[in-house]
Amino acid sequence: MKAHAINDRIYAIHADVRTEDLFEGIWPIPDGVSLNSYLLKGEKIALVDLVRDWGGAPAALETGLSQAGVKLADVDYLVLNHLEPDHTGWLAEYRRLNPKVQILATAKGCELLRSFYKVTEGVRVVKSGDELDLGAGLKLVFIETPNVHWPETMMSYEPSSGTLFSCDAFGSFGMLGDRVFDDQFNAGEHERFEEESLRYYSNIVSSFGLFVKRAVEKLAGLELRAVAPSHGMIWRAGPRAIVDRYTKYASYLDGKREKEVCVVWGSMYGNTERGLKAVLQGLEDEGVPYSMHRVPNEDASYILADAYKSEGILIAMPTYEYKMFPPMAYVLDLFDRKHVWGRTALRIGSWGWVGGARKEYEEAIAPLKWNNLESVEWPGIPDEAALEVLRARGRELGRRVKEA
Ligand code: FEO
Repeated sequence: MKAHAINDRIYAIHADVRTEDLFEGIWPIPDGVSLNSYLLKGEKIALVDLVRDWGGAPAALETGLSQAGVKLADVDYLVLNHLEPDHTGWLAEYRRLNPKVQILATAKGCELLRSFYKVTEGVRVVKSGDELDLGAGLKLVFIETPNVHWPETMMSYEPSSGTLFSCDAFGSFGMLGDRVFDDQFNAGEHERFEEESLRYYSNIVSSFGLFVKRAVEKLAGLELRAVAPSHGMIWRAGPRAIVDRYTKYASYLDGKREKEVCVVWGSMYGNTERGLKAVLQGLEDEGVPYSMHRVPNEDASYILADAYKSEGILIAMPTYEYKMFPPMAYVLDLFDRKHVWGRTALRIGSWGWVGGARKEYEEAIAPLKWNNLESVEWPGIPDEAALEVLRARGRELGRRVKEA
């Protein structure tokens, strides 16, 4: 892959990974993902973040380095902002190719170096404020940003260029192709990356929203002229835009959410779906937009993205064998793990022989601290009286979302 010059001494080198693998073994990436590394050429040479042996990434890294006139074995310092294997999985092989390389990571990062890769030599522990002088006016300053996305994570900042190497923070799913900078993508492409950055955030980072806020606070005094994450595009025209976007995502935790409803629904024979249509009519009467996600047809990765930003949640599912519709149980568990908390919520659904979903549902949502409207359940096909109640409940949900 091509080396893209951030300036005459700093280069972005990325590998586009197109794969049917799931990211973290869980999340679909139909548009792939980029693994970005950064080359800094002072009197000494530093590489910020490595790759995993995934989709040809090591070869892409080697090609990019050679375009910038550097061989793998020329690198003096390997800065590992984050030890998750998407950025380090190729480390053992890389050290065989470049045994003299010195690795810099936080103290917790060095523990992970030992447990993941059995690396204990040629390692330097760094902490916030430490600097790595590369000569010729180039240096890196380290900023510990724990839990964005693992406990050992840090960012690295190059003051002369104002470039922040932020690793997972400010990242996105999606391959880049032969362009890497924000000013090289058109509005439609930005819209797609924005969707994929929300999905990335809600899937990967959302459990650590408080830490995202703390990390952003630590950046307040820095002059940011480029934000260079290790997934997704590099922000040089509008570096604050992606920081502001992540700040907005983190603020969803505090209730500053979009006045929308995320509808998650499943239906066995169309009876819950009939009731759902009545609730949607109520939402439309109130002019509240909604997104629709059917389970198990749609992957929960996409549901999380809409649920994470939306003030309202509408759960529509039938009773299944005296309990919840099974795929909904997985979604609700993810909502807790990924902190989809404090929403304005309504649950509806039909039952056949006898109810039962309600009890299990109420247990599942208890940790979410949702503000719940009264549930609506009905046997079999909803009659006109039930449909009227459902329309009214939809209007109430819409009003409560607008007022929240
Ligand atoms: Fe891109 Fe948390 O790894």
